[in-house]
Amino acid sequence: MIRAIYPGSFDPVTLGHLDIIKRASRTVDKLIVGVLNNGGKHPLFTIDERVDMLKEVTRDIPNVKIMSFSGLLVDFARQTESTVIVRGLRAISDFDYELQMAQTNRKMNPEVDTMFLATSLEYAYLSSTTVKEVAFFDGDIREFVPNQVVESVQRKVREKKAAYLRNT
Ligand code: PNS
Repeated sequence: MIRAIYPGSFDPVTLGHLDIIKRASRTVDKLIVGVLNNGGKHPLFTIDERVDMLKEVTRDIPNVKIMSFSGLLVDFARQTESTVIVRGLRAISDFDYELQMAQTNRKMNPEVDTMFLATSLEYAYLSSTTVKEVAFFDGDIREFVPNQVVESVQRKVREKKAAYLRNT
């Protein structure tokens, strides 16, 4: 029984993330999507919103479970009895950071290995950060995020802009 974690911020989930989830879920027995809830970052979506969006877009994949986690990823791996961490690699620019993270995680928990999936070509350029930027300037994000998420991103960005204008 191979249990794997696919960790990330998912702020918001993109079509690139969903592609990795679908492909990884075909390779392992159980895939836990771990949504990071560490205080340092300032995400657009709350942890509950990110978890709910992921649940919605993965509800047809029976061996996928969505969970939030805080603290170290290797501790979350221990808690969930996972032996594999899945990460998508888009380009060589991802590599340094990903290798460093994989090696650090392996040092801290030698029972966990990181497996990299090459991002599908059509999503190689995509990131949650660029999605937010496009949405912020009223660009079309329908090619970037799952259908169920488009409206939520647009609404959140509208709310953020309104709050910003109120405070200036
Ligand atoms: O989607 P992201 O933001 O690139 O995901 C980064 C993530 C969540 C995988 C990484 O920040 C993480 O694992 N954070 C948890 C804290 C941790 O374990 N850090 C040490 C790894 S070297």
